[in-house]
Amino acid sequence: MRYCVITYGCQMNKNDSERISTFFDENGLESSLPENAELFIINSCSIRQSAIDRIREKAKKIKSENKKLIITGCLLKEDKKEMQEIADYVLSTKEIFSNPLPFLKKKEENYFQIEPKRNPPTANISIMTGCNNFCSYCVVPYTKGREFSRPKEEIIEEAKKAIEKGCKEIWLLGQNVNSYSGGTSFSNLLYEINKIKGDFWIRFTSSHPKDFSSDLIDTIKSCKKVTNYLNLPVQSGDDEILKKMNRPYTIDQYKKIIYDVKKNIPNITLSTDIIVGFPGEKEKNFHNTVKLINEINFDMIYIGRYSPRPQTEAFKMKNDVSQEEKKRREKIITEILKENNLKKNKTYKGKNVKVLVLKKIKENSFLGKTQCYKTVLIESQDELVGNFVKVKIINYSPWGLKGKISPK
Ligand code: 5AD
Ligand code: SF4
Repeated sequence: MRYCVITYGCQMNKNDSERISTFFDENGLESSLPENAELFIINSCSIRQSAIDRIREKAKKIKSENKKLIITGCLLKEDKKEMQEIADYVLSTKEIFSNPLPFLKKKEENYFQIEPKRNPPTANISIMTGCNNFCSYCVVPYTKGREFSRPKEEIIEEAKKAIEKGCKEIWLLGQNVNSYSGGTSFSNLLYEINKIKGDFWIRFTSSHPKDFSSDLIDTIKSCKKVTNYLNLPVQSGDDEILKKMNRPYTIDQYKKIIYDVKKNIPNITLSTDIIVGFPGEKEKNFHNTVKLINEINFDMIYIGRYSPRPQTEAFKMKNDVSQEEKKRREKIITEILKENNLKKNKTYKGKNVKVLVLKKIKENSFLGKTQCYKTVLIESQDELVGNFVKVKIINYSPWGLKGKISPK
């Protein structure tokens, strides 16, 4: 039977999908393009209602073409019920591997034992799953359950194998990597992976400000392979809103962390996540977010329009910011980001940077990332994907840089 996995959501879902692929291959199924597949596996995301709406439409389309369909991943019980009416099977990620399905011969109780199907140069490695933080807007503690850290030996082994297979960018993933507890601290895990032989970069996401400790700053500084890029989601620039979000830190504390990070690692690039239009977010609260963004001058901001999700605490609050207003606030943040980044990217012009080429976008055109996670467009007649290259920056825009291969 030919199968196709469709993945929604975060990098951790991608990693789960890669394990699903290996498992299905081992069971004698054949991976294929969507047009030839007889069986579809949708790995879903529930973070926002819009993702679930898209998944429902996709699922209906697949079933209307008389294909077999399994839905798995991040699902709330409310959505599970609805999906059960559409799909042939609705299973948790664990159940995909451990439930008897007619077309699967084998079972695997600990699916982390299954090696993900790697597609170099990027290796996604989930080091933990679930979350204990219960931010009032977030479904993760309900869909993925409580926090669980994988044993460090298992992670190190997985990283070694990925590097042997040619991966050059190791992403360590968790909802809150700072609270990793699989036999060592997160910093020590970074040290261990940094020791593995080979030419590769180490990245991680995501961190919670409440668990951020200064030893992580020292680790980033000391470990050569750990890149100078930090994603530290703030969610809002206003203390009152942070409290309602159940995010136990203040903006002063957040700024103190950023100050320490910048002082110790001057060339760090910073990204954050922000939710606009959380219940009760007035103009004055939003203004504080704008102020923070201007002060910190983030390199990237992942903006989410607040989406009420069943089971969460915020679902009981009044969703009182209109969709238009959420869009307006999102646009204001995007404009600031654009303006600030244009100034920042300008400073790259004429400089030489090391880039890891991630994909080919069209003939003679490639996309890559610097170690600071800046996007670089490269034109070249050579096949560059999967290589580190030296590039001279010849142009820039708010969203990235353009470079050409430097002569050796
Ligand atoms: N509405 C909008 N954005 C959300 N996020 C999580 N839950 C919601 C929600 N209900 C965002 C947060 C988080 C990112 C992964 O998704 O900013 O950091
Ligand atoms: Fe969700 Fe908060 Fe946990 Fe992140 S830390 S997964 S936003 S509950």
